[in-house]
Amino acid sequence: GKDGYRHYMEKELHEHPLVIGQTLQRMIDPATRKVVLPDLPFDLATVPRAVITACGSAFYAGMVGRYWLEEIARLPVDIDVASEMRYRDPPLSAGSLGLLISQSGETADTLAALRSLREKAIHILSVLNVEHSTMARESDVMLGTVAGPEISVASTKAFTAQLTVLACLTIATARARGTLDPIGEEELVAALMDLPSRAAEVFNQGNAIRQMATIVAEARDVLYLGRGSMFPVAMEGALKLKEISYIHAEAYAAGEMKHGPISLIDRTVPIVASVPSTPLFDKTLSNLQEAKARGGRLLVFTDTQGADRVSAIAEQIVVLPRVHDFVAPILQTIPVQMLAYEVAVLKGTDVDQPRNLAKSVTVE
Ligand code: M6R
Repeated sequence: GKDGYRHYMEKELHEHPLVIGQTLQRMIDPATRKVVLPDLPFDLATVPRAVITACGSAFYAGMVGRYWLEEIARLPVDIDVASEMRYRDPPLSAGSLGLLISQSGETADTLAALRSLREKAIHILSVLNVEHSTMARESDVMLGTVAGPEISVASTKAFTAQLTVLACLTIATARARGTLDPIGEEELVAALMDLPSRAAEVFNQGNAIRQMATIVAEARDVLYLGRGSMFPVAMEGALKLKEISYIHAEAYAAGEMKHGPISLIDRTVPIVASVPSTPLFDKTLSNLQEAKARGGRLLVFTDTQGADRVSAIAEQIVVLPRVHDFVAPILQTIPVQMLAYEVAVLKGTDVDQPRNLAKSVTVE
């Protein structure tokens, strides 16, 4: 049942803190506070590159994974949506790592990509929520997200669980490749262990998010902006808004806005920006100032440290707890999903079963 929530999506949004915690329990040894992976039939220290492929939200989780694996583990990563990866036929040396991400483990495009990678002697590691799925059977190794069943067609908790697994995989890969020393690992693990409590605090911002939703619900088009690992968070926010509120939304890397979409900006196109105080804060802020100067209405997700500097230009602001830069994309995802939910409620759509969509897309 919905446990008193209005929709499964609302219930599942509230499960973020629990699901992140459960997934960490699976991946981190409580005694040593080290990431522990199952036995792998390949060596993370020597895989020449990783190719990440998935669809929809799972693909955006993969994009965050790419930032992490490249930056922290110095592993070269290629990424594409599964329906393109399969036909692109990228040249890959045998022994590369195929990283497939799927909540259901049944998505036809992702499964087809998995099979075509297998044929090229690529090791298959899948990040899956449904542990007895077709993809689980056809992978060399599976890392489970411990999100429990996700009923809402719009993915919520499975996405943060995917990010949690990818964060742990990054730590293990970095350790194996010698790019992260024990002190560095301790710091990143501590940041992850801190997340469930910080995630729970996001729900204190419910009123501010509902206020933002009243502005978004009036719009026909919405622009989402973010830089670095916050760009896929913007993409996730835009997808969620489209899916359940039927409002057109597009996500741009904040720095790319001036190369075209800036001409769209006026008072009728609200801009939702995810801007925690990471090293990319200043650059993103100046992009937002450019948008503001052109009459854009800024709706900004930031943290306690960024709040003062953002409030000068933002029409609405949601202040989240300050967390380690590494885990900021996980925390920042929660409020953008909540925003989409509140807009859909205002619009009165069928939140859990949006038109034209199925929970698991089993055709190519
Ligand atoms: O089951 P999967 O994770 O493979 O599904 C992939 C996408 O179909 C899925 O994430 C879809 O984009 C969601 N409806 C997003 O909310």
